[in-house]
Amino acid sequence: MQHDKVLILDFGSQYTQLIARRVRELNIYSEIHPFNKIPSNIEDYKAVILSGSPFSVRGEEALHPDLSQIRGKKPLLAVCYGAQYLAHFSGGEVAPSNTREYGRANLSFIQKGESFFSYINDGSQVWMSHSDTIKHLPKNAVLLASTHDVKNAAYRIEGEPTYAIQFHPEVYHSTDGKKLLENFLVTIADIKQDWTPDSFVEETVEAIQAKVGHDKVVLGLSGGVDSTVAAVLLNKAIGENLYCIFVNNGLLRKNEFESVLNQYEGMGLNVKGVDASKRFLDALAGIEDPEKKRKAIGNAFIEVFDDEAHKIEDVKWLAQGTIYPDVIESVSATGGPSATIKSHHNVGGLPDFMKLKIVEPLRAIFKDEVRRVGATLGIDPELLGRHPFPGPGLGIRILGDITAEKVRILQEVDAIFINGLKEWGLYDKVWQAGAMLLPVNSVGVMGDERTYEKCVALRAVESTDGMTADWVNLPYEFLQKTSNDIINKVKGVNRVVYDISSKPPATIEWE
Ligand code: XMP
Repeated sequence: MQHDKVLILDFGSQYTQLIARRVRELNIYSEIHPFNKIPSNIEDYKAVILSGSPFSVRGEEALHPDLSQIRGKKPLLAVCYGAQYLAHFSGGEVAPSNTREYGRANLSFIQKGESFFSYINDGSQVWMSHSDTIKHLPKNAVLLASTHDVKNAAYRIEGEPTYAIQFHPEVYHSTDGKKLLENFLVTIADIKQDWTPDSFVEETVEAIQAKVGHDKVVLGLSGGVDSTVAAVLLNKAIGENLYCIFVNNGLLRKNEFESVLNQYEGMGLNVKGVDASKRFLDALAGIEDPEKKRKAIGNAFIEVFDDEAHKIEDVKWLAQGTIYPDVIESVSATGGPSATIKSHHNVGGLPDFMKLKIVEPLRAIFKDEVRRVGATLGIDPELLGRHPFPGPGLGIRILGDITAEKVRILQEVDAIFINGLKEWGLYDKVWQAGAMLLPVNSVGVMGDERTYEKCVALRAVESTDGMTADWVNLPYEFLQKTSNDIINKVKGVNRVVYDISSKPPATIEWE
């Protein structure tokens, strides 16, 4: 089934991915491409949205794509920089703004009865974030709306399905932003809203079958959301030809290996659990430097996975849980309009399993969509709601060198903290939580005895993508109970602290 597609041309705005997500929330498929790489199959896209940008259209470095294949030929919505770009290069004038144009503003309609504003009330709140302003509109422009500080807040071009807005409809503070996108995409561009998690599953299963045929596929499961959803999708498509490998690196949470393995087997997946704890701990012995630890863990994983993949006769494909943010070509906001791609693809010199052909069933969707697809596939909501957990596991939460005893201590502490969050109904309010074992001993007193034992730090953060984060204001009563439980139950720990640093400048993990 062919879905109508929307092209989002990225000029480097921090909000570009949000535009794509808002469009997709309307059950319309959207793709992000760099402003200077308009896809050659442009006729396959039913509408185009121009994103905002940290650049100025007046600057020498102004991003200046050729829109002749798009402008006037298909519905076009220009947001922020996009609106200024249209104005500047079509006979209008853009200048630095005199008043502050950052934050909330209210629309005042100039034209009544515009389908662009259907079911949106005069006075609707919008979010502004720009330092240039459109002084004069371009040729043939019809002013649609103003705000208190911005005269040319929304306009369209007479005789063309071209609309431009100075504010950001993709940001939640624009209260009717989603409705406005719907008006543009559904009413003006006549796009069908048929891209749903169900249709994604159906089409992806068909696509995997067509691509992989009767070949065998190997996939590394981590217990996390992406690899699990990828595995269940592949399992639906190719059944027993999917071979999953779940490696215990000895740095997982308490009982995680057994419980996740049980859960996977209950889901009908063909999973081989490989307990390689000793191999990882041996490889880590005596290493204190965080990056060297990461490397040792990464190398050990590759060795173990490669050994296991070789045991599967005639395997042809490697499946990965790569998601859309990993493959979007990004427009650099600082180093000029350069483009970089994070590549998950195999190159020479890599282990044998990485030379397999690659299948990535989730590479078109965002994390929140992976969860929705997982729900459609009937995956346990508890598994889909799990906090992110780093690949190197507790290895980067034990500061300094790693020993089996330190892992045991941290597993106990972490389990008390995480189970406590669940019991107190706090787990789902936190984006990620965990405990760090610090490389310091401090003095304490237990009964009549002096102790000289380990200190642990608890960390719980709110975030949307891990790029920025803030510490969570957990109730004092909860922290008090958790601290007591840890000190009373975990031998070797006599002090608990709570990390109240935001990211930036701190990071989420301590290493
Ligand atoms: P930081 O500590 O950089 O963490 O603020 C941001 C997010 O990334 C996770 N993280 C990792 N994940 N391998 C991973 O798979 C790593 O080496 C790694 N380091 C950090 C971290 O848990 C958080 O979600």
